Amino acid sequence: MRVLVVDDDHAFRKHLSRALTRRGYEVWSAEGGKNAIHIVEDKSFDVAIVDLKMQEMDGIQVIEGLKNIQPSIVGIVLTGYGSIPTAVKALKLGAYHYLTKPCQMAELETILKEVQNERHRQPGRSSPDHYQGIVGKSQAIQNIIDMIQIVKDTSLPALICGESGTGKELVARAVHFDSCRKENPFIAINCASLKPELLENEFFGHVKGAFTGATNSKDGLLKTADGGTLFIDEIADMDLVVQASLLRFIETGLFRPLGSTKEVKVNVRIVAAINKDIEEEVKMRRFRHDLYYRLNVCRINIPSLRERIEDIPLLVDHLLTTSPLVKDRTVTISSSAMEIFLSYNWPGNVRELFNLLGRVILMTKESMITKGHLVTFLPSALRKGNERASSLKDIEKRYIVESLKAQGGNISATARALGIDRRTLQRKISGYRIQ
Ligand SMILES: Nc1ncnc2c1ncn2[C@@H]1O[C@H](COP(=O)(O)OP(=O)(O)OP(=O)(O)O)[C@@H](O)[C@H]1O
Ligand SMILES: [Mg+2]
Repeated sequence: MRVLVVDDDHAFRKHLSRALTRRGYEVWSAEGGKNAIHIVEDKSFDVAIVDLKMQEMDGIQVIEGLKNIQPSIVGIVLTGYGSIPTAVKALKLGAYHYLTKPCQMAELETILKEVQNERHRQPGRSSPDHYQGIVGKSQAIQNIIDMIQIVKDTSLPALICGESGTGKELVARAVHFDSCRKENPFIAINCASLKPELLENEFFGHVKGAFTGATNSKDGLLKTADGGTLFIDEIADMDLVVQASLLRFIETGLFRPLGSTKEVKVNVRIVAAINKDIEEEVKMRRFRHDLYYRLNVCRINIPSLRERIEDIPLLVDHLLTTSPLVKDRTVTISSSAMEIFLSYNWPGNVRELFNLLGRVILMTKESMITKGHLVTFLPSALRKGNERASSLKDIEKRYIVESLKAQGGNISATARALGIDRRTLQRKISGYRIQ
């Protein structure tokens, strides 16, 4: 592959060119846009690695100029931290990738290999309404996909914010499984389900004799996830002490197993998810502000389903065509039923939509789901028809009351049916003062 390096920093240009030449690439370099365009006018290139901030002409203009001459050239943008909006613009203009400086050679090499493989296949990104299992065509989903593309091959921690059921775990998986870490482990841990001591032990592991009962040493999840991604779900429920150790790990890559005097170094990318208002958690001092600043650099907000209703028909269609519940038959949905779906508030977001639709498919023998079917199967909140006028909290409360009734008051069964955990449900029950 022939690669052009464009950077006005002489030392960096020389260093990168040498490193790439040693790895077998044919490398040319230019100290600015004009020079680069000159070179590309009489030689063809596979890739141009371009610094975003240069004196003479910025990186985006350079890529535009190069692509005017050779449209097939693949642009990779290099830049310091904190210029994500510019990077989004660069990606839209056809830059293939975005790497933060100082760049890791391993990351860059993975990208170059990917470009090489892609050259053999059809170039271009996956279809816009389906990416790594994420279905949707709203602007919100497109922004999320852009953001995933930007952060996936960096080692920066990422923070995914969104209400319950909006697809935070799905996005976390996409960040991992579309990245150069995809061959290594993706490990998930839910902070709400463990007491602080247990959580610390899960994260960092312990050595033999660290505490009563520690008869053997045990690796923590950080060690197990080495080379891959650790997905920390419901991070707002993480104890402040554990937050401090996690921050230290993010800053140094080091941690100490419980009872050990030796530090361990691993290469793990942290992706955290939260369904609460993180700024409020910081304000109430339940979340460390320094950890918040670290995580907030690469933040992906997933709006609720009611804020992107144009995704509902696609999601319904996706379930109707891929669910194992419809494997031997074709099921469609009537427009009146779809209208109800579009006007409902979906407090449980995509998960609620999938659960409800799944139940309807299971119980309906006919090939078309109609408004009539929904009346039988959906919670009363959906039947009343004036959801948009009610507040989200009202609907959620009514939905919980109905579900509790349907499950004979059994909290565990209701939590399962709603797709939330028992503690969350209990919090909501006391918050809404449901008797
Ligand atoms: N855009 C989407 N496309 C396809 N499936 C989706 C999408 N968003 C969510 N889902 C599906 O909805 C369900 C819930 O998603 P997920 O578990 O990722 O939500 P979550 O935000 O982690 O929820 P919670 O906060 O309750 O843990 C999953 O089955 C997931 O596959
Ligand atoms: Mg989740």
